[in-house]
Amino acid sequence: MGDTERTQAIDQRYGTLAESACCLSCGGAIRYAEARPGEVCLDLGSGRGQDVLRLAEAVGPTGHAYGLDVSDGMLDKSRRSAAKLGLTNVGFLKSPLERIPLPDASVDLVVSNCTINHAEDKAAVWSEIHRVLKAGGRFVVSDIYAIEDVPEAYRTDPEAIAECWAGAVRRDTYLSQVGAAGLAGLDVIEESAPYDKGRIQVASLTLAGLKPGGCGCQ
Ligand SMILES: C[S@@+](CC[C@H](N)C(=O)[O-])C[C@H]1O[C@@H](n2cnc3c(N)ncnc32)[C@H](O)[C@@H]1O
Repeated sequence: MGDTERTQAIDQRYGTLAESACCLSCGGAIRYAEARPGEVCLDLGSGRGQDVLRLAEAVGPTGHAYGLDVSDGMLDKSRRSAAKLGLTNVGFLKSPLERIPLPDASVDLVVSNCTINHAEDKAAVWSEIHRVLKAGGRFVVSDIYAIEDVPEAYRTDPEAIAECWAGAVRRDTYLSQVGAAGLAGLDVIEESAPYDKGRIQVASLTLAGLKPGGCGCQ
């Protein structure tokens, strides 16, 4: 399966869901994010943009909230919502998770909800999160992990990945990829019991951590 095939399946599924009201989240990342006035925030896989709008409100006119998504439908919906509210401190970026179009050390807070499981190269995504965060910058991510190995037949199936289960990795793999990227202070804030999704059992977690360094000042 090529990167393009995976991206097309994601674009197709989420383009259709952009105008629906169904819940696409798998945890409470935004509730724990605690964005502060003046901060720069980034939501990876921002979907309809609702978390970006909340971040924009929290950081105020001296801060900025970016959403990143690969689906045109989701990006259109988000931009319309931001325009309706007259927000000027938001931006929506079209990009895959593995290539964040922001400079090194430019972001105070990364959030993401139910998205990183879709990425083909999750190590690259965590490495990008590390790159864009400022020293001392933090992240809060809700995502799913696989309780059992995803059967080979589905692991590269673009539709099954877009349905938010076949791209999932086991819990130990998930946490070790975050640590290998150089992120630290990992804290599993919430975690669900296993549940059925697609052909496997998954669980959801909300994970917080930071990029080491910085003065720790608020
Ligand atoms: C399950 S939805 C979650 C949306 C939103 N975070 C929420 O909680 O409502 C996943 C979102 O991630 C986006 N996405 C999936 N894979 C992606 C990738 N590789 N690069 C960028 N965006 C991706 C999808 O287009 C979709 O909008």
